[in-house]
Amino acid sequence: MPHPAPGPADAEDPRLAEVMAAVRSSRRYQSVAPETVRRLAANALVASRGDLAEAVKRTKRSLHEVFGAYLPSPPKYDALLRQLRDAVDAGDDEAVRAVLHRAMSTHASTRERLPILEEFYREVFARLDAPTSVRDLACGMNPLAAPWMPGSDAFTYHASDIDTRLTEFLAAALETLGVAHDVRVRDLMTGVGEVATDVTLLLKTLPCIEAQGRGQGWDLIDAIRSPVVVVSFPTKSLGQRSKGMFNTYSANFGAWLENRPHDVEQVEFRNELVYFVRKNA
Ligand SMILES: C[S@@+](CC[C@H](N)C(=O)[O-])C[C@H]1O[C@@H](n2cnc3c(N)ncnc32)[C@H](O)[C@@H]1O
Repeated sequence: MPHPAPGPADAEDPRLAEVMAAVRSSRRYQSVAPETVRRLAANALVASRGDLAEAVKRTKRSLHEVFGAYLPSPPKYDALLRQLRDAVDAGDDEAVRAVLHRAMSTHASTRERLPILEEFYREVFARLDAPTSVRDLACGMNPLAAPWMPGSDAFTYHASDIDTRLTEFLAAALETLGVAHDVRVRDLMTGVGEVATDVTLLLKTLPCIEAQGRGQGWDLIDAIRSPVVVVSFPTKSLGQRSKGMFNTYSANFGAWLENRPHDVEQVEFRNELVYFVRKNA
């Protein structure tokens, strides 16, 4: 039987609904934001020329690249939350940090940062002017690092990522830690929204957004409504030292900065290159 004519899928397209339903029935991706699945499924339908099975396969591959690869085994959210509540109730700060470490090690990006966590946030917050609001875009498990962020008892933590279970867990964890928060599901391919904060963290995420839409990662820095944006890039990939990553990202950042009137400070950590962008326009 011939496939239906390929073409851009729209929201009413029954083929799109079918691909979305198939993808969202998999446990792995059932709590990823529907708009994210829809966007990736629409691209996959075009690329697979209307072959539904192929489109499902491609959509799952894309979801793996943008989300699943960072969380190789799905975190045991309920158990982690229970352990965190017990540690907080017992007033055992060491146990609290141990649970948070365990939770952060489930996400590749925070796992890589664990060895430098203390130094990382001491240095980052030393360069910020006691913010009362911090935004963390495509946050992964990073909001769990709040106890390592000096002044986290005095700011509201606005965090977002693309998975409902993850964001619900983060909201419950921040509540348990007593950190004022607003955690939402947000797909950055639809923009950054209207939230304005003293500082925005865009950590190790720009390459992932660039892979989903060329130019859209860099555009985020302009669109973010904060006078200071902390942008970082990984300089090691899955534990492998990579000189190439440093060179590529610093060259790309330099090209982006050209003709922009911002003040920028570069700080290099063992496996992460950080830019403090102070916007002047
Ligand atoms: C490299 S990780 C960085 C996580 C965190 N910022 C950190 O440094 O610990 C990239 C994150 O981007 C999220 N992500 C991928 N595509 C996204 C999109 N279109 N909109 C929002 N978040 C996205 C993933 O779920 C993942 O948590």
